[in-house]
Amino acid sequence: MTTILGIETSCDETAAAVVVDGTEARSSVVASQIDLHRKYGGVVPEIASRAHIEKLDSVVQEAMGQAGCGRHDIDAIAVTSRPGLVGSLLIGVTGAKTLCWAWGKPLVAVNHVCAHANSAAIGMEQPPWPAVALVVSGGHTSLYRVDGPLEIESLGATTDDAAGEAFDKVSTILGLGYPGGPRIEKAARDGNPKAVDFPRSMLKPGSLDFSFSGIKTAVLYHVHGPGRTSGGLDKLSPTEVADIAASFQQAVVDVLVKKTMLAVKQTGVANVVLGGGVAANSVLRAQLLEACRRRKFGFHAAEWAYCTDNAVMIAALGYHQFVAGDLAALDLDARAAAMK
Ligand code: KG4
Ligand code: ZN
Repeated sequence: MTTILGIETSCDETAAAVVVDGTEARSSVVASQIDLHRKYGGVVPEIASRAHIEKLDSVVQEAMGQAGCGRHDIDAIAVTSRPGLVGSLLIGVTGAKTLCWAWGKPLVAVNHVCAHANSAAIGMEQPPWPAVALVVSGGHTSLYRVDGPLEIESLGATTDDAAGEAFDKVSTILGLGYPGGPRIEKAARDGNPKAVDFPRSMLKPGSLDFSFSGIKTAVLYHVHGPGRTSGGLDKLSPTEVADIAASFQQAVVDVLVKKTMLAVKQTGVANVVLGGGVAANSVLRAQLLEACRRRKFGFHAAEWAYCTDNAVMIAALGYHQFVAGDLAALDLDARAAAMK
């Protein structure tokens, strides 16, 4: 039995978890900073770093306590070292290095996006590999071919905004607040997804890259632009807001589903996995499941609790790296950029 303590502080959640053998979560503690950032309409990096400093110690203690673990039960400590907000990453990395030094444990440096790509496999008896992984979050929208937890190849990524970023910005445009994803999803439940024909940017034929800045601008023009008869947000009825939210959400989901099916076609891999904060969106989950079912592809979405940022996914991938001997030294640094 191999027990990993995972630590995640790449953005605005301070998280720690204890995971056994890369798949069995013994504890998961997530301290969200949403209330601190809400009034600014997005994550303020300096506030995020300070909140991580304040919370990290107690979050780790709580995760160890919930799992009924002492330091002697831990085989290694896995921490997100990239990508993310550097000031936030540094708090987790420094905390993990300090614990490794004090407890005499090995350190594992985990890539946050690869952890999202692996997150659907957590708790599964038979891992879903090989698979096409769609990772959709506030910072990333990427397709990967995954042949195993440590064998991940990039197929395409967003060339501008991430899908979650588009949800957050459109939520601000519609006056729905922060965080945008869940609020758009809620507003969209009462709306007509066919009410507004927002653009679905597919880029070049065969491309597995994404672009979401155009649709965000299209929503902005639709709400405030010269062609609008109602003349801006304050004139929109709740029905119009719901229709715009539903039409925007459907346009994003259409692109994500289409590109994922294209990736399956191009790779010949017949399994799809879904992870990242936007994977919590029930319309995306349902429509991707349906597209896979129609073509007889396997489909596995990360559990709801492992879609948005958490430390279970960090400990889960950290386990595979630990077993493979992929350890980090105590001079490990944090990196803002995505891949190695
Ligand atoms: O994975 P995550 O917690 O952080 C990053 O790694 O970025 O993802 C956060 C993103 C935010 O943009 C948030 O609006 C989006 O995930 N999100 C959603 C939903 N829940 C969270 N987007 C659409 N629908 C949701 N239900
Ligand atoms: Zn994330």
